[in-house]
Amino acid sequence: MNDRPRGVVVTGAAGDLGRALCSGFLDDGFTVFAADVAQIDATARVVPVRVDVTDRRAVVDLAEQASVETRLEAWVNAAGIFVACPVLDADESGWQRILAVNLTGTWHGCAAALPALARAGGGRIVNVGSVSGQIGGSAVHPAYGASKAGVHALTKTYALEGARRGVLCNAVAPGLIEGSMSGEFEARQRERMAQANPMRRLARMDEIARVIRFLAGPSNTYMNGAIVPVNGGAYMPS
Ligand SMILES: NC(=O)c1ccc[n+]([C@@H]2O[C@H](COP(=O)([O-])OP(=O)(O)OC[C@H]3O[C@@H](n4cnc5c(N)ncnc54)[C@H](O)[C@@H]3O)[C@@H](O)[C@H]2O)c1
Repeated sequence: MNDRPRGVVVTGAAGDLGRALCSGFLDDGFTVFAADVAQIDATARVVPVRVDVTDRRAVVDLAEQASVETRLEAWVNAAGIFVACPVLDADESGWQRILAVNLTGTWHGCAAALPALARAGGGRIVNVGSVSGQIGGSAVHPAYGASKAGVHALTKTYALEGARRGVLCNAVAPGLIEGSMSGEFEARQRERMAQANPMRRLARMDEIARVIRFLAGPSNTYMNGAIVPVNGGAYMPS
């Protein structure tokens, strides 16, 4: 049983953070179930799975597949969407879509992962929240921060539920990261945000991925229910 490969599921695996996670988890020795609505190519120890996280059945099937093919150890909910817009222009369809992917999709991931990881003898769930879920944001659809605050709350609920089953659940709350999502802001806006950060720059994807890999890995034995700020010191909750 224990000679099966170590498995991790990453949703949003085709995205900037997802790709950094896949390559990091490969270095850590995992077989990676790379789930996304977008196309991903299969490579050694990368199993692409076309999944829309808003489809609960598909997410449950993903957990089943990963549990059959590997000793599932970790699950990262990184699928997400973001809409940059003046708050007063925010529309209803954006609200529904952002909540469906970011919040309901993460709930589907947590709900599918917890029993699968528990059956495998324990494991780790890591959710991707945001500083927007802690302090809100301007020039962003208000659903984004609301969805991420919901992700933080989900993290705590699954941390409580998972603890007695050997499953730890944590989240990262990144600030703005270099990549296509922050590219939704105009260059001038992005530069202003970088300069407003105590470190005078945005995060790099690998800097977020490394924290997630720690939370998802066996070195994390007692961190549970934490919302870990990875924001360069832009917001320091006590
Ligand atoms: N980039 C940032 O500045 C930043 C900051 C804080 C938090 N985050 C969060 O980090 C996570 C990753 O973001 P990123 O920067 O890699 O963005 P990205 O746009 O590069 O990647 C997001 C991925 O999610 C996938 N996706 C979207 N809807 C999906 C669905 N319904 N089902 C499955 N997959 C779906 C997309 O296809 C894409 O590959 C997101 O949850 C995002 O909210 C990003």
